[in-house]
Amino acid sequence: MDIAVLPLAPEQMKARVADESKLGFGRQFTDRMFLAEWSVDRGWHSARIKPYEPFVLDPAALVFHYSQEIFEGLKAYKWQDNRIALFRPEMNARRFNHSAARLCMPEVPEELFLDGIDRLVSLERDWIPTAPGTSLYIRPTMIAVEPVLGVKPSDHYYFYVIMSPVGAYYAAGFKPVSIMVEDRYVRAVPGGTGDAKTGGNYAASLKAGLEAKKKGYDQVLWLDGRERRYIEEVGAMNMFFAYGTHIVTAPLTGSILSGITRESVLRLALELGCTVEERMIDVEHLLQDMKSGAVTEAFGSGTAAVVTPVGRFCYKDECLTVGNGGVGTITQRLYDTLTGIQTGTIEDRFGWIRFV
Ligand code: PLP
Ligand code: COI
Repeated sequence: MDIAVLPLAPEQMKARVADESKLGFGRQFTDRMFLAEWSVDRGWHSARIKPYEPFVLDPAALVFHYSQEIFEGLKAYKWQDNRIALFRPEMNARRFNHSAARLCMPEVPEELFLDGIDRLVSLERDWIPTAPGTSLYIRPTMIAVEPVLGVKPSDHYYFYVIMSPVGAYYAAGFKPVSIMVEDRYVRAVPGGTGDAKTGGNYAASLKAGLEAKKKGYDQVLWLDGRERRYIEEVGAMNMFFAYGTHIVTAPLTGSILSGITRESVLRLALELGCTVEERMIDVEHLLQDMKSGAVTEAFGSGTAAVVTPVGRFCYKDECLTVGNGGVGTITQRLYDTLTGIQTGTIEDRFGWIRFV
């Protein structure tokens, strides 16, 4: 499909944050965005790159009432030789369409998803920060815009992409975070939308997150919705536990997000000489294994979170220090290898990089 490029007036160009160490996460957006529309009678049409600006939407638009919305997250990096690299964007396209199917939304052709991002990133290349730990975060999103109050799939959608120069997701940067196992609320249940990237999952997690913050924890770790016994994932990352060089993570049972970083970390861990296992992790057993010192490291993985060490692990008000509370050796090596491949200082032997 042709992608039109609309003009950008000088007054629509924004001031940049001059100090890249102060970017934070997702607070400012590039000058342009991508937008395409789908309607029942026309399918996908009107793909265009246009100035970043607010939408004018009918207050009855379905997204506002019944949350028919999905999104993705991926990053672009500017390499030292000035090439621009995307990390596994095809995986985001596939997961986006998995989410779309669950929310009864139209699939976005992979070519449109990837071309739209390529063209937008290319036009906005000057927005890609280059300081260590920074990147251009890309947020593809689809919303239901038909104005009607009946509960039904929309007959009109916007697929759009916005982008934000970002630093670390957690304010402290690459530092160990504290995690509280949530034993009252649940994030997802079997048959629910846990493995779809849809806004409702995040809205439903806010209350537990706020309560955990008040108690001084950084993040909530969700247990399975049926027995509240098995480890699932953290708000914005999948979880891993290292028993020496044996790495364990929860299986993809349908109620957790199939993380692209998770899949990459499993592959890299093997490469680094570790063994990996996807299995149900009983929180009580895990606690015992932490107390006995068998669990030597814990970390999360995600596009925004990259690889984030977990230093403190709390369950029912009992808090344990993981390892020595600092950044574990395997966690550090995985972080270095993953970010090395993403930024072009380590060879990509997996075909994960797509150049723009
Ligand atoms: N789990 C949840 C709930 C997330 O929001 C994310 C972030 O995207 C992840 C896991 C990690 O997924 P990925 O590695 O694809 O970013
Ligand atoms: C990502 O890592 O891309 C995410 O979508 C997490 C987000 C909730 C910040």
